[in-house]
Amino acid sequence: MQASEAEKPRIVVLISGSGSNMVAIAEAVKAEVSDSDNEAEIVGVISNRPNAEGLNKAQALDLHTDIIDHTLYASREEFDHALIRMIEDLKPDLVVLAGFMRILTADFTRYYEGRLLNIHPSLLPKYQGLNTHQRALDAGDDIHGVTVHFVTEELDGGPNAIQAIVPILDIDNAQELQKRIQVQEHIIYPIAVKWFCEGRLTMKGNQALLDGKQLPTSGIQLDTRG
Ligand code: GAR
Repeated sequence: MQASEAEKPRIVVLISGSGSNMVAIAEAVKAEVSDSDNEAEIVGVISNRPNAEGLNKAQALDLHTDIIDHTLYASREEFDHALIRMIEDLKPDLVVLAGFMRILTADFTRYYEGRLLNIHPSLLPKYQGLNTHQRALDAGDDIHGVTVHFVTEELDGGPNAIQAIVPILDIDNAQELQKRIQVQEHIIYPIAVKWFCEGRLTMKGNQALLDGKQLPTSGIQLDTRG
């Protein structure tokens, strides 16, 4: 769904952990509101982990928070349907997965198709799944990175919107690499959200479009190599 001019685009952010991407997006949205007419609003932050550190950060930013503990549901399907109901109460235009560490069912991804973004710490389609930093190091890669993409049924497989390329240094370990990648996450995720809220970033037929033009498979690339 495209953000209408009359109403502020409503964003719901799903988290499981530290919530640093949620904070980066919230701060960017706040700066936008004071800067221009193109306002958006984070109407809720939902965590599937009751103790997620990000919940405290969201409350400190005066954001509405909800908890939906996945361990209380008998199946992935039941959890996802309850999650949809919780999200729908907030009437979102955009749902943002920001370190939401749950595999979502096809029912969920189809429901939000075209208005569901995720951030994944690799240059997708490389290194779908977990432990991406260590896998890039083990493979002896020169570069690594992070991707914001639309979510489809295929895990980490929907069309890319934007990615940042980060060089791998000789002295890197997974932790150091992750730290440098996260700096880029906090830059590119707010950009993708802003483009979406402005109606510039859309998804049609498994393609990501910016200003109506099909993006390359990589998405827009931000190359941070010197
Ligand atoms: C981020 O680094 C994000 O790339 C990763 O989880 C972290 C969440 O951090 N996401 C995934 O691995 C998704 N498969 P945050 O809670 O501080 O935003």
